[in-house]
Amino acid sequence: MITSTTHTSRIQTQDAVTARGLRKTYGKGETEVAALKGIDISFPAGKFTAIMGPSGSGKSTLMHCLAGLDTATAGTIHIGGTEITTLNDKALTQLRRDQIGFVFQAFNLVPTLTAGANITLPVQLAAGTVDKEWFDFITTTLGLTDRLAHKPHELSGGQQQRVAVARALLTRPQVIFGDEPTGNLDSRSGAEVLGMLRRSTQEMGQSIIMVTHDPVAASYADRVVLMSDGELVGELDNPTADSVLAALSKLGA
Ligand SMILES: Nc1ncnc2c1ncn2[C@@H]1O[C@H](COP(=O)(O)OP(=O)(O)OP(=O)(O)O)[C@@H](O)[C@H]1O
Ligand SMILES: [Mg+2]
Repeated sequence: MITSTTHTSRIQTQDAVTARGLRKTYGKGETEVAALKGIDISFPAGKFTAIMGPSGSGKSTLMHCLAGLDTATAGTIHIGGTEITTLNDKALTQLRRDQIGFVFQAFNLVPTLTAGANITLPVQLAAGTVDKEWFDFITTTLGLTDRLAHKPHELSGGQQQRVAVARALLTRPQVIFGDEPTGNLDSRSGAEVLGMLRRSTQEMGQSIIMVTHDPVAASYADRVVLMSDGELVGELDNPTADSVLAALSKLGA
């Protein structure tokens, strides 16, 4: 266990992300699809939440709306203290850059840059200064110290995804969103990355929201929320792979 008094000062009591009355409808008339049918949910700061449910239940739609990548049809979304549904494009882009980290299924690393340069790229694009101490802490915690000079193709899948996690953590975002972040990894590398995500909540106070189909991946989270047909249909605290599997089979997933 790494202890760091200077790095765990994030306030744990507030919600990182909140949605109220969230609706998303695609298309019009006969082709209309109600992907989100009025979602009310809060994601506490410093917690790791997994979103699960059958294919087509609205998981990605929910995540994309919460992250400001897609516009909601109705409802409100707060990230930290900011209501995002009323922001203009410029403010939203800035909020995404400063307050949100992303870890996707494909690692999305720049192939020509070293691991270290990939991690600092968002800070540099925002013309910010890299907090060297925080960079060292993250890369040490993620076990990347001796891989920083390597290009992505010289790294394993798990190492590449840990670079993507480090890149997301470096800006100290209000929340990190992951859509199947271990979907492309073998089970050992997946476990490595999920363990790191969990440690980032426990040791750095990071808030994480992850969509996954995998009950084992979900068992790393503090909480699992279950979706079905555009609605929230349940949740589990301190999930295990077995309890998640049982809850999913009740949904017919
Ligand atoms: N751009 C779009 N246009 C029209 N319908 C869409 C669009 N994107 C998603 N949908 C529909 O909205 C519903 C929810 O889709 P979503 O991608 O959120 O599901 P999901 O839970 O992420 O599924 P999966 O597990 O397969 O990734 C589905 O019925 C889908 O067909
Ligand atoms: Mg999806």
